[in-house]
Parts: sequence; structure tokens; C-alpha cells
Amino acid sequence: MSTPEKLYGITGWPLGHSLSPMLHNWAFKQTGFSGVYMMWPTPPDNLAAFFSAVRTLPVHGGNITIPHKVEAIKFMDKVSDRAALIGAVNTFYWSGGKLCGENTDVTGFIKPILHRKFKSALVLGAGGASRAVVAGLKELDTAEIFITNRTPLKAAALAQEFGATALPWNERTKIQPELIINCTSLGMAGHSAGETPFPKDGFKDKGLAYDIVYTPSRTRFLQEAADAGWDVQGGLDMFAGQAAEAFRLWTGKEMPESGAVRLIQDALAKN
Ligand code: ATR
Repeated sequence: MSTPEKLYGITGWPLGHSLSPMLHNWAFKQTGFSGVYMMWPTPPDNLAAFFSAVRTLPVHGGNITIPHKVEAIKFMDKVSDRAALIGAVNTFYWSGGKLCGENTDVTGFIKPILHRKFKSALVLGAGGASRAVVAGLKELDTAEIFITNRTPLKAAALAQEFGATALPWNERTKIQPELIINCTSLGMAGHSAGETPFPKDGFKDKGLAYDIVYTPSRTRFLQEAADAGWDVQGGLDMFAGQAAEAFRLWTGKEMPESGAVRLIQDALAKN
């Protein structure tokens, strides 16, 4: 057996269970790339030391997750315009001897809806995930973007930053957007399964409900949208899409995406 040459991994704290090692190690094998992907739990106080190690050891790239996505920017030599706009990096890689930061969540978010045009969108939530989603909606030239959040000040700040409109949380069903995206953690298995951030009588006319939560694959938010005749998009394609984009940056190769989605589905079914 040959020893993998290139080292990749994910840093976060606490890391808990992550699907990324399984996915990337599978993709390395599928594409014949000599790499290995590891878990690197890193307490916040060790983040500077972690990135010193990245510059010393043969680390070729990696992912950055909660709570380091914002803080990690200051350890990069360069960040993409997109990552700078969002103010967060979820992927790092080397290019021309420079440590580069990118945010592939945007690519992952956009990909499943690239073929559709939406005039208006409502974003539920105003945390880290919402920033990538709002940036993605801007890239898609969505004319009207509404942001609503349980804590209104956060919605107002995000809306102001991105030229969107903040909507009071208790008025979120009063508008008729063509696209509604759940960027809150409500409905997520192990957090608040069976809950929804959006009352079902808010699904008026027709549109697309997009949940960035992917466990379970059919959240209550999506189920109630489907019952109201809306199209639905789960978060699994976004997760696979952000991974595929990171993989491309590291290896120059395409991750076999339909196989990747099946692999994640199988892994989730076993949990
Ligand atoms: P992420 O990086 O996944 O976006 P986050 O920054 O912690 O995580 O944001 C979580 C989002 O889910 C926030 O918009 C949060 O609302 P608050 O800003 O009011 O905290 C939202 N959220 C979490 N639990 C919620 C709940 N029970 N009801 C409504 N919104 C909730």
C-alpha cells in the first residue's frame, strides 16, 4: 500500500461528528489522488498555533468550521473577494506559495438553483450561514431580498450591509416571496427536530422552499412547503457542493457529485 502524500483536514471546535473526512477520503480514492483528510479539533486559543503548523507541516489545504470561520481570515495571506464580502472562510489552500482563504458555501448554495430565476427571496435567520446565502442571492441578481430573524437587530445589520430589507420576525408570513430559505438551525436533528421556523399558512401561491439543514433530509419546513404545492430543495446538495468546490481548489479534480450525495445519504441513514 502506498502512503498518501498530501495532508488535508478540518479545523473547528468542538468538531463532534463531521462527514467531511469520509467524503474527501472517498473522493481522493475515487479520483486516484494521493491525499488523506483528517480531523483537527482546535480550541480557539490554539488557532494561531494551528495555522503556524499549517505553514510548517506538509498541509496542502483544509476546511474551517464553527467557530473559526471568521477568525481564520487573519491567518490567510490572501482571501477571495467573495470570502472578504462574507467575512468568513470555510476552505484554505495554497496557491503560488500563498495561503488562500475561500468561502465555498456560496457555490454550494447557488448550484442547485442556478437554472432558476427568482425576483424575490426571504431569508430566515441572520447568523453565519445567512451571510453566505445573502451573498449568493446577490450573485444571482435577486431583485428583492428580505431578511428576518428572531433577534431583529441582527437582521437589520445584515440587511443594511448587503442592501436587503429587514422584516420583523412576526411579519415573516405577510410577504409573498418566490423563494424562502431556512438558514436557522430550527428543524435540525439533535437540535430541534420537528420544529419549523416558518408557519405553514405562509406558503402562498407557488415557490421554492430551500432548507440548508440536511439532517433530516426532509425537514418539517420542507414537508409543509411540499404539502402546500411548493417545490423543495434540501441542504444535502449544498453540503456536497461546498465540498466539491473545496476539492477542486485542492486537487484540480472534480468530485463525483452524484456518488458523493449517495455516500452522504447512506452515512446519515446509518446514524
Ligand atoms: P449558523 O452559522 O449556522 O448560521 P448561527 O450563527 O448560530 O449559526 O445562527 C443560527 C441562526 O438560527 C440565527 O439566526 C438564530 O437566531 P438568533 O439570531 O435570534 O439567535 C436562529 N435560531 C436558532 N434557534 C432559533 C429558534 N429557536 N427560533 C428562531 N431562530 C432560531
